[in-house]
Amino acid sequence: MRWHCRIKQIPQRGRLRNGVRTMGDVQIEGRLIIDSEASVVAVRRAIREAATALGFGLADVTRVVTAASELARNVFIHARNGHVRWRTVGRQNAVGLEIVFEDEGPGILDIDQALTEGWSSSGSPGMGLPGSRRLTDEMELRSTPGRGTIVTVRKWRT
Ligand SMILES: Nc1ncnc2c1ncn2[C@@H]1O[C@H](COP(=O)(O)OP(=O)(O)O)[C@@H](O)[C@H]1O
Ligand SMILES: [Mg+2]
Repeated sequence: MRWHCRIKQIPQRGRLRNGVRTMGDVQIEGRLIIDSEASVVAVRRAIREAATALGFGLADVTRVVTAASELARNVFIHARNGHVRWRTVGRQNAVGLEIVFEDEGPGILDIDQALTEGWSSSGSPGMGLPGSRRLTDEMELRSTPGRGTIVTVRKWRT
């Protein structure tokens, strides 16, 4: 199996480690290798399942799936291969989904430029990174040219 996903029901009065109240909530974690167009489709499906299980509304499921799809495609197109991990995260009054894309590809020379709508190194629409940032609540981009890229997005359940 090239991927694994665990959805675990948290017992009544259960708590996430950082103290968020999560009665009756689910804890989700999963991982998937990205190395083909088919694996990008698998990422879409897995993130759709995770966001739905976490109780995201339909519009937010679509937003986070679209963002994940673009970021997974970036791994495949720009770095050839990498992986994605996702998990439930909590903070004071919110539960959310954190998704981390990691590759050891060429990296991004100019992160501000990469985040600009319409800018692309490959002649494609260049909406993936700015779109993903808009569709999620938090995005962190770390990249070292020649070493690789890590993109983290978080979406909170409203
Ligand atoms: N994982 C990655 N590894 C290397 N470069 C990347 C990665 N993701 C994005 N980039 C760079 O950032 C640019 C902008 O990304 P994006 O907005 O998705 O546009 P597009 O993928 O259409 O070119 C890309 O053209 C590419 O140069
Ligand atoms: Mg892209």
